[in-house]
Amino acid sequence: MKYTHHNNELNMKHLKEHVYLKGWAAKNRNLGGLIFIDLRDRFGITQLVVKPENPFYETALKIKNEYVIEAKGVVIERESKNMNIATGEIEVEVEKLTILSVAETPPIIVSNDTDALEETRLKYRYLDLRRPVMQNFMIKRHEITQAIRSVLVEEGFYEMETPILGKSTPEGARDYLVPSRLYPGTFYALPQSPQIYKQLFMVAGFEKYFQIARCFRDEDLRADRQPEFTQIDIEASFVEPNDVQTLVEKVMVQTFKKVLNVEIESPFVKMSYQEAMEKYGSDKPDMRYELLIQDYQHVFESISIPLFENKPSIRGLVLENGSGLSRKKLDALTGVVKKNHGEALVYLKKLEGIVTGSIAKFMTEEQLESLKLNEGAILFLVPGEFEDVSSALGALRIELANEFNLIPEQSYKFLWVVDWPLLEYSEEEQRFYAKHHPFTAPEDPKVLKENPKAAMAKAYDIVLNGYEIGGGSIRIHNQDVQKLMFDTLGLSKEDIQNRFGFFVDALKYGTPPHGGLALGLDRVVMLMTGTANIKDVVAFPKTQSAKDIMMQAPSDVDQIQLEELQIKVGKS
Ligand code: AMO
Repeated sequence: MKYTHHNNELNMKHLKEHVYLKGWAAKNRNLGGLIFIDLRDRFGITQLVVKPENPFYETALKIKNEYVIEAKGVVIERESKNMNIATGEIEVEVEKLTILSVAETPPIIVSNDTDALEETRLKYRYLDLRRPVMQNFMIKRHEITQAIRSVLVEEGFYEMETPILGKSTPEGARDYLVPSRLYPGTFYALPQSPQIYKQLFMVAGFEKYFQIARCFRDEDLRADRQPEFTQIDIEASFVEPNDVQTLVEKVMVQTFKKVLNVEIESPFVKMSYQEAMEKYGSDKPDMRYELLIQDYQHVFESISIPLFENKPSIRGLVLENGSGLSRKKLDALTGVVKKNHGEALVYLKKLEGIVTGSIAKFMTEEQLESLKLNEGAILFLVPGEFEDVSSALGALRIELANEFNLIPEQSYKFLWVVDWPLLEYSEEEQRFYAKHHPFTAPEDPKVLKENPKAAMAKAYDIVLNGYEIGGGSIRIHNQDVQKLMFDTLGLSKEDIQNRFGFFVDALKYGTPPHGGLALGLDRVVMLMTGTANIKDVVAFPKTQSAKDIMMQAPSDVDQIQLEELQIKVGKS
C-alpha cells in the first residue's frame, strides 16, 4: 500500500477523503476508550483515531512508541484543534491499520525536547536523527549543498574528484595515516585538503574546478571542528583575489536566498588582518556588535602604574551600563582574560560621576576625565604584548557580548579578512611557519627573499558572525618562488624532493596563474541553521575526543590484519 500523503499535508480541504499514511507512532493516548496515535514522518505529524468498535482496535492497542505502521482512513474534523501544527484541525479515522515493524522502548525520546546525554544521543545516533530538529539540520544541509553546487555549475565550474589515499598535504594539522599492505612500512596519508590535487587540475588545464571534498585532520577538537569534515573546494585559473571573492559572494548570497529566503548584501566588507586584530582582537571578527577594542597606550604613557610599566601595548574596551557587574562576575572575566594569554584585567568604572578602580589612585582627576567614560560605563584594560592583549580582549569581547545579549538574532555579518602576513615566526623553534599553507603566493617574492618577516600574502579568509567559514589565496605558480617558500620554511633540498618533488616538477611545464578557496561546509550549515555545535549538522560525528561511540571506532583490529600489514602494536 503506497501512501497518499505525507504527515504534514492534510487539512480541512481534505475532509471526507480516504487516505493512506505511513510512519512512526510518535505518541499514543487512550482517552476513555478512544485511541489517538500521532503518526510521524520526516514532514510532520497526523493524528489517527481508533474507536472501540473498530475491527482494528486490538491492533491499535498493541502499538507502542516508534512502531512503524500504515493506516488507511477518512479525514474528519477534530473536536479539539491544535493550531500549532499544520494538520491540527483534522484527524484520520482509521479504517485499516497494519503494524509494519515493532520497536523496543527507545533509549532516547524521539522528540525535539530531549534531556538525553550527548553520549547516549551519539550511541543511538539513528534514533537521535529521527528527532524532527535533527532531521531539519540534515535536510537543510542537503539544500545548502545543492544550492552551492548549482551556483558553481552555473558559473562554469567542473565538479571533479581527487583521491583519499595520497601523500601528506600540509595544512598545519597531523595526518591520519593508512598503512600499505603491498609496501609494508609505508603509509598513505588521508588528505587534510585537496590543495595539491586542485592545483594540479589547473596545471592540467581545467581552469575552473570544484569539489565537495572530505578532509581529515588530526587536531584538537572544538565546538566548530571535527576530525573529518567537508569542504567546498574551489580553484580557478587566471584569477585575482577579487574574482574569487566575487564568486564566493555570489555563492553565499544565492544560497542564503534559496535556502533561508534571506537577502545578504554584497560586496562584503574587506578588513585587513591588522585592523581585525587591533579592533576585534581576532582574525575572525564578529561584526554583529560593536564593543571595539581601543588603544590606551597614549593615556598611560605618562602615568606611573606598576602593572603597566614596560608594557608595549595597553588596550581596552568600554562596556556601557556595565558598572553593576558583580565581584564574582569580574573575577570570572579575569579568568577569561588569563586563559587567553592576558597578564591581567584592570577595570575602571564611572558611577555617580566618579571614576573608581584599582588604578584610579595613580591618576589625576584630569587623567581620569580624559578617558571620557559615560555614567554607568566600565572600562576594561589589559597590558602586555600586542598579540597577547589582542587575544585576551578578543575573548573578553565575545564573553561580554554573550553575557549582555549584545548579539542580534538572525543577523548575518560577512566580511573578508585580507592583507595577511605570509609567515609566522616561532621564537621557540626559531623557524617560520606558513600562516595559511606553503602554496600561498607572496605579495612580493623579493620581500620574501630579503625580509621574510615582512612578507605579505595574497590570501583571504571569509568570516561569518565570528567564524572562519573559508580560506583561500592566489597560489605560487612559479617553480623558483615555490622553492624559495620551501627554503624559507626550513625544508631541506631532500625534504622538498621527497615530499613535494612531483609538485615542484609539475610547475615546470606551463602553469597558469591560479587561485581559489575552500568553504567549510559544516560551519556554513551550522551558522545557517543557528546551532553552535558542529556535531548537530554532521550525520555521524565524532566526539570531542575523536571517537565514534556508535561504531566504537577507533578499535582494535584482528591480529591477522596487523600481520598482513607487518605492524606490531606495542601496548603499554
Ligand atoms: P583551511 O585550512 O582554511 O584552508 O580550511 C578551509 C575551511 O575549512 C573549514 N575547516 C574545518 N571545519 C571543520 N572542522 C575542521 N577541523 C576544519 N578545519 C578547517 C574552515 C576553514 O575555513 N587548502 C586550503 C583552502 C585553499 O587555500 O583553497 C584549506 O584547506 O571553515
